Amino acid sequence: MAGIFITLEGPDGSGKTTQIAYLRTLFEREGFTVVQTREPGGTPIADRIRSLILDPAHREMTARTEALLYMAARAQHTAELIRPALHRGAVVISDRYTDSTLVYQGVARGLPQEALVWLNRFATEDLVPDLTLLLDGESGNLAQRVADRGNRDRLDSEGLEFHQRVRAGFLRLAEQNPGRFRVIDGEQPVENVRWAIEKCVMEFLRKRGR
Ligand code: TMP
Repeated sequence: MAGIFITLEGPDGSGKTTQIAYLRTLFEREGFTVVQTREPGGTPIADRIRSLILDPAHREMTARTEALLYMAARAQHTAELIRPALHRGAVVISDRYTDSTLVYQGVARGLPQEALVWLNRFATEDLVPDLTLLLDGESGNLAQRVADRGNRDRLDSEGLEFHQRVRAGFLRLAEQNPGRFRVIDGEQPVENVRWAIEKCVMEFLRKRGR
């Protein structure tokens, strides 16, 4: 495919939302057409699934139901938005993708990894990001950031131990996929995080011969 697929991953409160705007400007500055999106979401069907999953009223939702809903949203998002944009040659930047499910539903909620790996492949028809930027941070500090935002959806109200498992899960995935992942300290001042992101992106583009 002609385009480039970049994902931004990390625990809640790691600063993804602030940095994705910067990532977008960076690629636009380099002359690329950028499609910015997020998971769960990105298309009308996936956005409806998002509200279903994140609704704090749905406390009875089982981990398996949740996993399958993320996968359903991802299948639609990939087919309707991501793949067509990549075929057009765009840079697609997604706030979360397949790794979030392996970590939140797999490591943190304890669902079998092999099943989730298989479902990810099924949902995406084997689409794998070209580059994944992982914003990392100490779980207690990041949880405090989320609490300061005062916006608690169903998943933000999990305890510290859950968030520690999420952090460890992401770091392990990064270790297992060193070619695709770059880990960035999300607790540094915003300007420094930007610098680190810029460095990773420029190095990535250089390697691709752009
Ligand atoms: P966000 O706050 O980054 O928009 O993500 C919404 C929540 O959904 C966040 O707590 C992480 C969670 N999530 C999963 O548990 N599994 C997934 O596959 C995805 C994409 C998100």
